[in-house]
Amino acid sequence: MSLHIWDHFWDLRVKECPCDVHFCDWLEENNVREKAIFHFGTGGHHILGLHNVEKGLKNAILGITASPGEIRTYETMIVENPELGWGYKAYFGDIYQLDKRLLPMFDIVTLFHVGEFRGPENDSYGALTDYEMVKLLAGQTRPGGTMAFYAGSFAYEKGKIEHDRMVAEGYLTPKGQYKTLPLFERTTKPV
Ligand SMILES: C[S@@+](CC[C@H](N)C(=O)[O-])C[C@H]1O[C@@H](n2cnc3c(N)ncnc32)[C@H](O)[C@@H]1O
Repeated sequence: MSLHIWDHFWDLRVKECPCDVHFCDWLEENNVREKAIFHFGTGGHHILGLHNVEKGLKNAILGITASPGEIRTYETMIVENPELGWGYKAYFGDIYQLDKRLLPMFDIVTLFHVGEFRGPENDSYGALTDYEMVKLLAGQTRPGGTMAFYAGSFAYEKGKIEHDRMVAEGYLTPKGQYKTLPLFERTTKPV
């Protein structure tokens, strides 16, 4: 048994996967500043962190990647550019091993890759299901905060099941779609 890593390196390929760029656009258009953001799937480009510095948004972003290559790039990037490390922390791990005791409340959570990379390998060490992981993060999103999904994901049918379930259970309410990103507002119902 070993950790289900994502043994690839994802450079920015906007035509194939525009979710991070669309999210950056949304942050900028809505002037989202000084917020706490959890980001599922940094990519090796780490564009969310770079954009945060470039535009001076001063958000505090916690990103996760299951790719050893992508986390190595993050290490190099913050060593060469410590300014990036203030507002952008990336860590290596399996999102299906999140532990809420270690998480703060977030204003915004991205869940772009729900269901893309979860299978029997994760089950072998008792990892969370998609439902458990999404619900855990709903519980770490402040009332009035935003959860963003990605309708262009090859696994969106799984992501859709989870956001619809969160709506049916009263934790989220739909608030439209920005480009490829279905958006939801966190309700006040405790998780
Ligand atoms: C296809 S890449 C997309 C990266 C970026 N969001 C983009 O659109 O350019 C998928 C990302 O999800 C991350 N990922 C996949 N499965 C994961 C898991 N179980 N836990 C944490 N991160 C995971 C990968 O490490 C990678 O950063």
